[in-house]
Amino acid sequence: MNRLEGKVAVVFGCATGIGRATAEEFVRQGAMVYGSDIVAEPGEIGKSYQHSVVDATDESSVTGFVEGVIAAQGRIDICFNNVGAGLQKKVSETSLAEFDHLVRMNLRSVFLGTRAVLPHMLAQQRGSIVSTSSNGGLMGRPNDPVYNATKHGVVGLMKSVAVAHAAQGVRANTVNPGPIDTPMLRGILPEGASLEDPEMTRRIVASTPAARIASAMEVAHAVVFLASDESSFVNGVALAVDGAKAAGAMLADRYRLNFDLGVS
Ligand SMILES: NC(=O)c1ccc[n+]([C@@H]2O[C@H](COP(=O)([O-])OP(=O)(O)OC[C@H]3O[C@@H](n4cnc5c(N)ncnc54)[C@H](O)[C@@H]3O)[C@@H](O)[C@H]2O)c1
Repeated sequence: MNRLEGKVAVVFGCATGIGRATAEEFVRQGAMVYGSDIVAEPGEIGKSYQHSVVDATDESSVTGFVEGVIAAQGRIDICFNNVGAGLQKKVSETSLAEFDHLVRMNLRSVFLGTRAVLPHMLAQQRGSIVSTSSNGGLMGRPNDPVYNATKHGVVGLMKSVAVAHAAQGVRANTVNPGPIDTPMLRGILPEGASLEDPEMTRRIVASTPAARIASAMEVAHAVVFLASDESSFVNGVALAVDGAKAAGAMLADRYRLNFDLGVS
């Protein structure tokens, strides 16, 4: 229960889903957590938790938030960049506005959070940055190419920060989730579909060897590992938390099942 004892953490995007589970687990593991989201009132997350309204895609909003934490605590040990948005459209169907929106949500937000904490972590000569990519950041998928491109970008950014700053004590890694039961996943289901429908669930997990949808807390546990000193020599890694989805090739019929459903 004290794997993050004494650590100061900032989290971007923690009102629901993976970010919320992670903020809750950071608190349980002893961290002082400064969480942020566009949602103003996320409800009870934990005792050592302080919430701010921050648009993670907005430069001054992100910088102001990080500087506020530095003013209060004097340091930031952990930064979890988790904001993201999905788009289930083929390249030919995607407008430039949709492309720009996804780059903004998935890549610009990670860049801004990382750039805001980096000078402080470099001054401290320690710090762990964890950013949420996706199994789609590790392989091509048929139905959400722009999402996958941005999530590859997140991996590239973290690997590059890792090689640039490992000698200065800064670590930068990604978690790469598979299908996780969150509002985002429920939001991309086709009209009328529900995760409570076993046939729908069976089709979603058709691309996941573990054959199930995981909970947000299963991703949070991996983030805690990357954030903690237990992973002190783990740097520049893309950690799949995906029931082996990105580990191998899918059988053609499984791909086809997904094509029909329109969910990657
Ligand atoms: N759920 C999955 O199956 C899955 C799989 C792979 C990767 N991911 C990634 O996990 C991350 C979290 O997604 P989730 O599934 O928990 O979804 P979610 O919708 O539950 O959580 C996203 C959170 O980000 C907040 N947010 C949205 N825009 C914001 C902004 N501009 N600034 C600040 N906060 C903002 C939302 O209010 C919400 O609290 C995303 O980056 C997503 O791409 C999710």
